[in-house]
Amino acid sequence: MTRIRTQDDYVKAHKQSMENPEKFWGDYAEQFTWHKKWNKVCSGNFQNLDYKWFEGAKLNMSENCLDRHLATKGDKVALLFEPNDPNEDVKRYTYKQLHKEVNKMANVLKNKGVKKGDIVTFYMGMVPELLIGIVACTRIGAIHSVVFGGFSATALADRMIDAKSTVLVTNDASYRGNKTVPLKETADEALAKSPTVKTVLVAKRIGNKVNMQAGRDFWLHDELTKASDTCAPASMDAEDPLFILYTSGSTGKPKGQLHTTAGYMTWAKFTFENVFQVNENDLYWCTADIGWVTGHTYIAYGPLLSGATTIMFEGIPTYPDAGRFWQVVDKHKVTHFYTAPTAIRALQAQGLDFVNKHSLASLKVLGTVGEPINEEAWDWYYKNIGKSKCPIADTWWQTETGGIMISNLAGVTPHKATFATIPLPGVEPMLVDADGKEIKGNPADGNLCISRSWPGMTRGIYGDMDRFKNTYFTTYPGKYFTGDGARRDEKGQYRITGRVDDVINVSGHRIGTAEVEDALNQHEKVVESAVVGYPHEIKGQGIYAYVICTEKPTDQEAFKKELNALVNKIIGPIAKPDKIQLTSGLPKTRSGKIMRRILRKVAENDTSSLGDTSTLLNPEIVEEIIKGAKKI
Ligand code: PRX
Repeated sequence: MTRIRTQDDYVKAHKQSMENPEKFWGDYAEQFTWHKKWNKVCSGNFQNLDYKWFEGAKLNMSENCLDRHLATKGDKVALLFEPNDPNEDVKRYTYKQLHKEVNKMANVLKNKGVKKGDIVTFYMGMVPELLIGIVACTRIGAIHSVVFGGFSATALADRMIDAKSTVLVTNDASYRGNKTVPLKETADEALAKSPTVKTVLVAKRIGNKVNMQAGRDFWLHDELTKASDTCAPASMDAEDPLFILYTSGSTGKPKGQLHTTAGYMTWAKFTFENVFQVNENDLYWCTADIGWVTGHTYIAYGPLLSGATTIMFEGIPTYPDAGRFWQVVDKHKVTHFYTAPTAIRALQAQGLDFVNKHSLASLKVLGTVGEPINEEAWDWYYKNIGKSKCPIADTWWQTETGGIMISNLAGVTPHKATFATIPLPGVEPMLVDADGKEIKGNPADGNLCISRSWPGMTRGIYGDMDRFKNTYFTTYPGKYFTGDGARRDEKGQYRITGRVDDVINVSGHRIGTAEVEDALNQHEKVVESAVVGYPHEIKGQGIYAYVICTEKPTDQEAFKKELNALVNKIIGPIAKPDKIQLTSGLPKTRSGKIMRRILRKVAENDTSSLGDTSTLLNPEIVEEIIKGAKKI
């Protein structure tokens, strides 16, 4: 089956993927270009974490994204770049042109000594060179690690050091609405702490003056003019690393999720085609940033593997005004539009005038990703953007899963407001109770686990398999624990209710509470801190920090500003607390563990059901915290 087109197809496909995954995925993978076919489609053991997909096969990712389409779609636009400024020219790359650019970039990397298995870090704005750069890595077997351009110098350095990255590709600066982001300047600060990086390639975007260190820093455009536009694709093993992508967890150190070649490729194409149902003349736009996994799988790999046209948008939803998304939809006649609930809520708050200036008549399919969507935002999106005729694919997945796991298939299986609905073929979800016992029957509420491996699954945390095991496979032994809570309705459809671990989902970005605490604790006047999430109208969740300091600051507001600036410097603006409460203590159990449940309730302004606090080491602190919260 090349494409699931009916509800019946879906039922058959899911059944076959469960009963005979070998045949299901083997048949699907026939369409790719292989240098050598696999010995076995899925092997190894899920519980032992040595699962493998397409073992023994040899292939190249970029060849499957580009070369495979040249004969049939060489002149079709592969990449459409919409700049930050609506008056600047759009850039279009056909499959042939993109192929050339990727080959040239691959040769630049090679000329700079990049070899198979080397890790190349990207710290860029949303410009074509970023997409070209990552695909070029896959051409020569280098591993890419994209660090979101909004991260700080410290965060970038931590990631380059962890990856032992040898090359950094960055921009002079990038545009972001009416501001510019000084990427090279921040990168310079990070490079001072990252000794493994020997080469820096700088793609010019803005033309601001930047420091270029002789022997280390090179302008990308100079290097490209010296590079040939043919580069033979490296023959990679199915399980060779393709990329790492850092994500937050429940300790301060970010985790480099490792994805490998053949399984991820299969998952990216399969999920893209079946969830969004993009057809030959459609125009698909995912508004994510390539710095996050959504951009990897659904701006770059999924669309290119499928021979679709993908839009890359440099700007932000509110520049020059809150109608920018809708203006772009009309300008290019976008048919498929995929964004985050936080963007929908932010635009909803700006009023309908910005929407109604545009026709939006080209839209056929809408999508959401990254966080639970509330009913009000769903309705607004459905009625005002989709004009009550476009299905909304609510796609649940994670950096770890490589691609979409639970979602309706647009126009094929029914959508349901606030529900991601059904598992894709290959996915076997289950709900478990606090003891790890499976909750059978419907409806049900529990913690969401996955009980078998699927092609796009992370192969581990780069350089730390113990942490991988501890984070995902020990809470409920033998199962992959997602960290999310979920509800299953009477028809077996899933609704993801949010994180149940120490991770906050702020505007669709995952932030570990420990990461923010580590940053706050670096202030010399901070003794201890505890960070929790609380409901936020636009961001979904906001960051609430409780902070104990050495002495009460004379100017509390100034002190809070200092704390915010510190978090900004250590992690980046996305992790700045929305609320900071100074307190003399934190509620602790007798073993010294912070009772986050209480802190969460107070932050949510729901103190009616705090539960039994008498067993706390310091029950008196609860009153102080409740009183203090009222003043924030
Ligand atoms: O809590 C879930 C939420 O985002 C988390 C994964 O974050 P990240 O790895 O950054 O990937 C985001 C893009 C895939 C999940 O554990 N999440 C993602 N999609 C949804 C969601 N929550 C509810 N509904 C969704 N559709």
